[in-house]
Amino acid sequence: MRIVSLFSGAGGFEAGFGDTHRTILVNDVAMSARDVLRQRFPDVALIEDVRNVQPDDINSADVLVAGFPCQDVSIVGGQRGLAGTRSALVEHVFRLARATRPSHILLENVQSIRFVHGGRVLLYLMHAAEKLGYSWAYRTLDSRAFGLPQRRRRFYFLASRDSDPGEVLLSDAGSTLPANSLDLSLPVGFYWTEGRSGHGLTADAIPPLKTGSSIGIPSPPAVLFPDGSVKIPTIETAERFQGFPEGWTGAASPRLRWGLVGNAVSVPVVRWISDRMNSPAPWDHKLSSPMPDRPIWPLAAWGNGRGLRLAVSVQEAPSSLDIGRISHGNYSWTDLSDRALSGFVNRARESRLLYPGGFLEHLEARLR
Ligand SMILES: C[S@@+](CC[C@H](N)C(=O)[O-])C[C@H]1O[C@@H](n2cnc3c(N)ncnc32)[C@H](O)[C@@H]1O
Repeated sequence: MRIVSLFSGAGGFEAGFGDTHRTILVNDVAMSARDVLRQRFPDVALIEDVRNVQPDDINSADVLVAGFPCQDVSIVGGQRGLAGTRSALVEHVFRLARATRPSHILLENVQSIRFVHGGRVLLYLMHAAEKLGYSWAYRTLDSRAFGLPQRRRRFYFLASRDSDPGEVLLSDAGSTLPANSLDLSLPVGFYWTEGRSGHGLTADAIPPLKTGSSIGIPSPPAVLFPDGSVKIPTIETAERFQGFPEGWTGAASPRLRWGLVGNAVSVPVVRWISDRMNSPAPWDHKLSSPMPDRPIWPLAAWGNGRGLRLAVSVQEAPSSLDIGRISHGNYSWTDLSDRALSGFVNRARESRLLYPGGFLEHLEARLR
């Protein structure tokens, strides 16, 4: 398949589709992303601003992929939905699809797209696909189930012109991920930059890598190890936590690499979707039920493109469950500074959040 990638960032889709499919165009307005894309895909055409991509640039595409900007549909953004200037750029995906009619459109975004701004952005996606006569399916998938020690629940939406996208996204009903029960004899990931309104505590994995934080520093989550040390992953390890080879974003300036890695789509999840596009299989319509109305759309759903929309009860993990664990990998880390750690402990002690017994005490012991 020939892939056209919009909002390509660090190239997670391109890396996931790999060598079996050919990327013919990448696109990103950020210089850091373009530096990486030029290095990793030197023979692929690159256009900076999505608003300048013309149908002629992508005419032979089979798949149009886009991890469109999430700021307006994320719970930490302004929640402006399509009224925002950033997530509304998804309109360009459909402008180009209308003119060129690729076989598939594959989108990725934060899973809060199901409810932020009354779920209107997701409603727009369903409408826009249906208006083109495409059937669609979407599913929430957690990167942790794909071998990565990172909890990262994301929304994947596939619209198809002549085939049933449910046969790609919904035919493997999946398996249940184990509960996130904390045990201090295993590593515990947390957002050291937060503490007041959230902490992201995650057993034997990190919470989602992101681009920013409430104290304005792009930084990875920290991990409390059973020996009492508190560390953050190196940028190379963070790349691996997204499924990239170490050094993948090395062409970008060091300060900007965290943002690129935090923004990216997880490579093994794309690989799974790509494999399933190669071998689609019927999905079980018995798992479907009437689509509930907004404001919270279900975790997975399907539409036949002619107005029928159904919720589908599938898991956030595939049946080939491969849970990523920090304790099972050989990763590189650096110490979190005392200043950063005591800032977190102070915020946590002042907050009303519940912390599991022993967690803050372990951090205080490390400070002493
Ligand atoms: C969520 S990230 C996509 C990440 C990508 N899927 C990956 O794997 O790295 C959204 C990207 O959209 C880019 N972007 C924002 N406005 C844009 C525009 N007008 N034209 C092209 N790219 C834009 C941002 O620079 C950012 O890299």
